[in-house]
Amino acid sequence: PDRYAVIGNPIAHSKSPEIHAQFARQTRQALKYERLLAPLDGFAATVADFVREGGRGMNVTVPFKLEAAALATRLTERAQAAGAVNTLLFEGGEIVGDNTDGVGLVRDIVQNAGVALAGKSVLLLGAGGAARGVILPLLDQQPARLVLANRTPARAQELAAQFAGSGAIEVATFDGIAGAFDVVINATAASLSAEVPQIPPSVFVPHTLAYDMMYGAAPTAFMAFAAAHGAQVRDGLGMLVEQAAESFCRWRGVRPETTEVFAQLRAQLE
Ligand code: ATR
Repeated sequence: PDRYAVIGNPIAHSKSPEIHAQFARQTRQALKYERLLAPLDGFAATVADFVREGGRGMNVTVPFKLEAAALATRLTERAQAAGAVNTLLFEGGEIVGDNTDGVGLVRDIVQNAGVALAGKSVLLLGAGGAARGVILPLLDQQPARLVLANRTPARAQELAAQFAGSGAIEVATFDGIAGAFDVVINATAASLSAEVPQIPPSVFVPHTLAYDMMYGAAPTAFMAFAAAHGAQVRDGLGMLVEQAAESFCRWRGVRPETTEVFAQLRAQLE
């Protein structure tokens, strides 16, 4: 069978092998998907070995997404915009770098949650790699407004400037965010430390979808905050499954069904 892998450090916790094994079974694709622990100073060498052994593609996770972008001989437009690669394809001597995170987020919001982004007001919190990775796919949905806010305002300014040619992005400080939004996306790392970005609760109205790119057994601190102010909430588990589906589709040319895989992962978390 064709070989694929997820590469990272650490990697033991990755759910990708399980997700892709289910996609393969469901679509009857003969493939093997493994975990690859690369030494922190040995990403390129580990990739080279895998390619030499006939590997066809890889998912890339922390802390190698930037290195993967540098290693690629060709980048898709969305990987270039993200400045990071979560999906590698080895084809015809080329190393193609793609990024499926942003499309995964958009698909989870629009298809799975049934919340449109076109013509809507969207607030994106954060200015690190997670935020950068989703800006282009969000702009592609043609929201009426995309507001980018970050704890350190200069980073939001800088990030927005990089997308000047791709669409209009407004920049705001946390306490300067005005009005309510249809969708509020938390792309900060605050949930990792059970913290909440210090934004005004007036961004939430009853139809607002408050989306945290993190996930876990319990709602994140951001989700609890948003729910307490009346918003609808969703965590990032669906984004995880959808980015995997997009990678699988890119490698195999078949789009797997995600509903059941999502339900199983959710059940395992609880
Ligand atoms: P990542 O690649 O996960 O996005 P990063 O580049 O370290 O990681 O960025 C982390 C993001 O989370 C930043 O936007 C950071 O805000 P600052 O730029 O002000 O540091 C944000 N962040 C982390 N902890 C936060 C907190 N407690 N409240 C608000 N924002 C937080």
